[in-house]
Amino acid sequence: MADANHPFLAACRREKTPYTPVWLMRQAGRYMEEYRKLRAEFSFLELCKRPDLAAEITVTPVEKLGVDAAILFADILLVLEPMGLGLEYSKDDGPVIRAQIRSRTDVEELNEFEPEKELPFVFEAVRKCRAALNGKVPLIGFAGAPFTLASYIVEGGGSRNYLKTKKLIYSDPGAWKALMERLASIVARYLNAQIAAGAEAVQLFDSWAGCLSPGDYQKYVLPYTRAAIAGITPGTPVINFSTGTAGMLKIVRAAGGDVIGVDWRVNLDEAWDVIGRDVGIQGNLDPTALFAKPKEIRSRVEEILTRAAGRPGHIFNLGHGVLPETPVENAVAMVKAVHDLSAR
Ligand code: CP3
Repeated sequence: MADANHPFLAACRREKTPYTPVWLMRQAGRYMEEYRKLRAEFSFLELCKRPDLAAEITVTPVEKLGVDAAILFADILLVLEPMGLGLEYSKDDGPVIRAQIRSRTDVEELNEFEPEKELPFVFEAVRKCRAALNGKVPLIGFAGAPFTLASYIVEGGGSRNYLKTKKLIYSDPGAWKALMERLASIVARYLNAQIAAGAEAVQLFDSWAGCLSPGDYQKYVLPYTRAAIAGITPGTPVINFSTGTAGMLKIVRAAGGDVIGVDWRVNLDEAWDVIGRDVGIQGNLDPTALFAKPKEIRSRVEEILTRAAGRPGHIFNLGHGVLPETPVENAVAMVKAVHDLSAR
């Protein structure tokens, strides 16, 4: 187990740390040669289902980048398979979900399942990661937030306008409520099983919540994200991350979380003012900044650190996941810049 006073965990509790802890969303993935080599041999789902390989993929960026936390190698969509929705990852189109939910009956037909029974490989990977990390840095578990999961389930994959999802909300709010309640319960139980297996913090990814108006977020998303977060085993820090939500951070915060993740479309200090200083904040470098030269990366890191002003409770991260084309050495330079410039 990582020390309870590890800078990442201390920052989640808004305690003073010797430097600002940093990790990168999607730090385990395609921008790394080690990952691409494994992917040449195994499909993405095969990698997720092989705890030994998942653990190896989780630990590699910790060693290579010098980040202050590991994030479990898995995917937010893994819960869809045991729900009875077929899941595939196609080479060009990303995730493809076979069955799509259009009605209350469809929702009622979804399988109830026990995460430990149906996704044992995830929890085995958590245990293997913890053993491999050997207390060096904390391990973050994660799940999709109910809205982002619902959007994949209703759209059948990724989407530009979320038209099918919004149509369901508008035309059949009862079916929507049933779906979101089901997802909130799955998310809490799935995260609790990760915590029981050894995850030391958890993050909810609400990657696509920003497609909603604040009013729709408040009415159709907030109650369920709040229920999911309220169902998480107390004592484990929860990071509530979303993108495109700069205009509704107050209600995002109202859903809960010890730390609110923000993207780069808002200044960190302004976001922190809105969510309140009684929660932590995570972010918020534009992922494309990692395509700039190290000197430019350093100055952009410095700007964010200046906005954070050394206040306890800042976890440095990108505003969204690291892009597959990112040069690894630039990610290394970013982590080093955060550590150098924030040392206190
Ligand atoms: O952060 C990490 O390094 C841990 C692993 C992780 C993955 N996905 C691995 C992955 C995490 C935390 C996720 C979260 C995830 N998955 C999100 C939320 C974060 C975000 O980026 O918004 C979403 C929306 C998904 C769904 C998903 N999985 C999509 C849309 C895709 C295809 C497009 C893409 O970004 O690759 C995936 C596949 C996926 N998940 C890959 C990886 C490493 C690539 C698979 C491959 O090797 O081909």
